[in-house]
Amino acid sequence: MKMPGLFFVWFLCICVCLPSAVLGNGNGYVLDKPVTELCLNCLCEALSECNATAICINPKIGTCGIFRITNDYWVDAGKLTINGEHPDTEHAFINCANDPHCAADTIQNYMHQFNQDCNGDGEMDCHDYARIHMLGGFSCEGELPYFYQSKFEECIVNYQEQGFE
Ligand SMILES: *[C@@H]1O[C@H](CO)[C@@H](O)[C@H](O)[C@H]1NC(C)=O
Repeated sequence: MKMPGLFFVWFLCICVCLPSAVLGNGNGYVLDKPVTELCLNCLCEALSECNATAICINPKIGTCGIFRITNDYWVDAGKLTINGEHPDTEHAFINCANDPHCAADTIQNYMHQFNQDCNGDGEMDCHDYARIHMLGGFSCEGELPYFYQSKFEECIVNYQEQGFE
């Protein structure tokens, strides 16, 4: 469990730290990156155990990729695409959601837009992003699914014990 997580941090770093211009974000723009890589890692651990096998869990609702992103979420985040794909092409959403780098940038854009203190602790941090990601930008105070919440908290505590923020 720990190894794939650490691998993913490394993997994300390779992808996300490289200038976006080199990798190309298609037609969308990544404005800034409020979400740390440790936070992204705990989100994907809780959502999919960071299993990067390209997959859409529920093709109708379309929750795709390691962050289980929906089409609506992707639209709200500015329709980022990979390989210069036009955002209106049929597979633009699925291709982005199944690409860890494009999916992570989609989260950054979504959080940039919906950044708020969901749990009322006076801070905007990963705990809020976990809520916004699962519950959306307009109802993030609600109840989180138990499995998701416990996996997420476990991941955060794990990093804290290792001395990470
Ligand atoms: C990742 O997901 C795929 C598709 O669901 C599955 O076949 C595979 O066993 C998973 N890999 C791991 C390491 O869990």
